Amino acid sequence: MSQRFHEKVVIVTGAAGGIGLAAARSFAAEGARVVLADRDVDGVERAAVAIVAEGGIASAVEVDITDFASCERMVVHAVSTYGALHIAFNNAGIPSGISPSFEDITVDEWQRVIGTNLSGTFYCMKAETPALKAAGGGAIVNTASVMSLIAAPGMSSYVASKHAVAGLTKATALDLVPYGIRVNAVCPGFIETPMLAPVVADEGVRRQIEGSAPAKRLGQPQEVADAVLFLASDSADYIVGALLSVDGGVAVL
Ligand SMILES: NC(=O)c1ccc[n+]([C@@H]2O[C@H](COP(=O)([O-])OP(=O)(O)OC[C@H]3O[C@@H](n4cnc5c(N)ncnc54)[C@H](O)[C@@H]3O)[C@@H](O)[C@H]2O)c1
Repeated sequence: MSQRFHEKVVIVTGAAGGIGLAAARSFAAEGARVVLADRDVDGVERAAVAIVAEGGIASAVEVDITDFASCERMVVHAVSTYGALHIAFNNAGIPSGISPSFEDITVDEWQRVIGTNLSGTFYCMKAETPALKAAGGGAIVNTASVMSLIAAPGMSSYVASKHAVAGLTKATALDLVPYGIRVNAVCPGFIETPMLAPVVADEGVRRQIEGSAPAKRLGQPQEVADAVLFLASDSADYIVGALLSVDGGVAVL
């Protein structure tokens, strides 16, 4: 196993499961000191114990990304535990429901989805930036979505939130590149995680989703994690403000 992240300190939000957990394990396997952050504190504590048992370096912290002070505490945890912050993978997010019509989308749902996926990502980046600057630079990878690039009916709040994460990624990339901080995003398609589980529990829906992707299958969390590690690595040194699709070809249909 290569050690691209030897002694790098990495925060991963949404690390209790799915894409975040796969990325946290991969960063740890490649030598990073990983802070697993999630509102599911039991989940990240279990995951950190498992990573340490596998020989990695990891700790867990509770975060609610909709609360800026909580994001600041997450960064303080990373810096006080491991001495610095070099890489942040801002991945925590929530789905919206699929509404039969636009009028069925409630104001509460709009605020919940935008508040988590967009404002939460912004709060994380704002809290992380001073520590990344203090380390002399680093990398931020955000989790956007195929829904950052295309749309689907009945999902206005989710689609808007993820289009906005793409815009936030590009604009912030310009603001932070002078400080040696590269900002990029991954755009996952349909990935087999706990978030997608209720949707694909119906075999018919699963087959329909698989059939709609040019690759004719769902993606796996590890396939997104591999793209995240690439964007965070020195091999991506000239990649700034990019949106990297990991979607089996859905966005180019
Ligand atoms: N699975 C997919 O098909 C898919 C596709 C495109 C984008 N995404 C995005 O990938 C990211 C990860 O999702 P996943 O599929 O691994 O799902 P997941 O539900 O397994 O992981 C999301 C994690 O985020 C955490 N979280 C949610 N709100 C939080 C908050 N306010 N504060 C802290 N933690 C919070 C959850 O507890 C959970 O552990 C999300 O941003 C999601 O929108 C997923």
